[in-house]
Amino acid sequence: MQQTFQEALQLPIFTILRQAAKENRVDCYVIGGFVRDYLLHRGTPKDIDIVAIGSGIQLAEKVASLLPNKPKVSVFKNFGTAMLKYQGVELEFVGARKESYHHSSRKPIIENGSLEDDQNRRDFTINALAISLNERNYGALIDPFNGVTDLKEKIIRTPLSPEITYSDDPLRMMRAIRFATQLEFKIALPSLQAIGANKDRITIISKERIVDELCKILASKKPSIGLSLLHKTELLSYILPELVALQGIEEIEGQRHKDNFWHTLEVVDNISKTTDNLWLRWAALLHDIGKAPTKKFHKKLGWTFHGHEFVGAKMVYKIFKRLRMPLNDKMKFVQKMVLMSSRPIVLSEDFTTDSAVRRLVFDAGDNVEDLMTLCEADITTKNIKKQNKYKNNFKLVRQKIKEVEERDQVRNFQPPVSGEEIMRIFNLKPSKEIGIIKEAIKEAILDGKIPNDYESAKQYMFKKAEQLGIKY
Ligand code: CTP
Repeated sequence: MQQTFQEALQLPIFTILRQAAKENRVDCYVIGGFVRDYLLHRGTPKDIDIVAIGSGIQLAEKVASLLPNKPKVSVFKNFGTAMLKYQGVELEFVGARKESYHHSSRKPIIENGSLEDDQNRRDFTINALAISLNERNYGALIDPFNGVTDLKEKIIRTPLSPEITYSDDPLRMMRAIRFATQLEFKIALPSLQAIGANKDRITIISKERIVDELCKILASKKPSIGLSLLHKTELLSYILPELVALQGIEEIEGQRHKDNFWHTLEVVDNISKTTDNLWLRWAALLHDIGKAPTKKFHKKLGWTFHGHEFVGAKMVYKIFKRLRMPLNDKMKFVQKMVLMSSRPIVLSEDFTTDSAVRRLVFDAGDNVEDLMTLCEADITTKNIKKQNKYKNNFKLVRQKIKEVEERDQVRNFQPPVSGEEIMRIFNLKPSKEIGIIKEAIKEAILDGKIPNDYESAKQYMFKKAEQLGIKY
């Protein structure tokens, strides 16, 4: 007996779809993510996929004509798809087909097919679930591959043999890992093996689509699930070989360093507990990236990674460029976090002077809290004593930051005396001396020699000018 899921079809749009299907005499079903997420109680949908056993485009146009606001229908003729927006939800229409389909694939549609053909060609059993919108069986769940069982058993499985499904669209290898991360599901073994075997096919997929999946993995509750699957299947070597290079522990003369790959994964998981900021999560992912190229062994010092933050920040740019990610303020933020990632640690290890904290706040500006969040996430020691010690030290640093901030306001520092004013007072033209005086005032404030106010800065300006032999 077919189960009915009429209660899944509460949105008013489904009544319209039912009517449109009836009037166009075409069968149609809601399919894919909507049904999956309904069964998983995953909240309100942002998009709804509709498959028509016939023309998806004509059905979309019919639906639009029945809606009160007559929304615009975007038609993608080559792919046989259409899209319209209603009450903030995107409705995507497609005609069922025999060949593999995906809206962003370049392949033209070959042949119209039945619902079953269409379900066969979808990526996973849990994404192939359909609910009927037709008069005769409105609300019936059509689940030919036991997708509901897979949902219950938390398993990602392909409807056809994984080799076929993944070769239809190799992005699905990333999607499998992404869903496994988001839903905390297991990937069925044959599927996992097929990903490993076909990993090089990822090279035909655009960087944008790969990064999209990677960002979804990073935005999940526990990104290490996906990152370790990417590593296990070796897809990661194609996407972020710099990260793979961090894996391994070397030992020379009995001295070992930590495995920076697995450490990084822990840091990403840690930070994901405290922030949803995707770019801060990216910073966590890349914070140690410079450690592979800077690693050295010294007889006296043991393992060192001198300048890894600087090298790492440069690598961030290269990675973003290669992955066709935006080279904008987000990239600069990640670079800055990587560059500064060791600064609070140094502060927490030593006795912290106010001037060191002032410099940190000055250099980090508005990103100082994010930087502290990153550093706290970086604590992965299993030694509880050490863990507590580091955590407490960071608490002290945070406290000091607060105090220094309240007193000195060096965040987004603006020099209290401007260059123009210096020129005016000393009747100078733009020259090197102006820069020297301004810099000296800034340094004096950061060092705590003078308070961050106009009068003190002015006094200091006169003193400095005198030293430089400038007449008043
Ligand atoms: N699909 C597919 N192969 C792909 C992409 C999508 O078979 N490479 C099918 C799946 O049936 C999927 C549906 O198209 O459920 C819609 O795809 P998409 O909107 O990308 O994903 P959702 O499943 O809706 O999930 P999410 O919104 O989380 O991406």
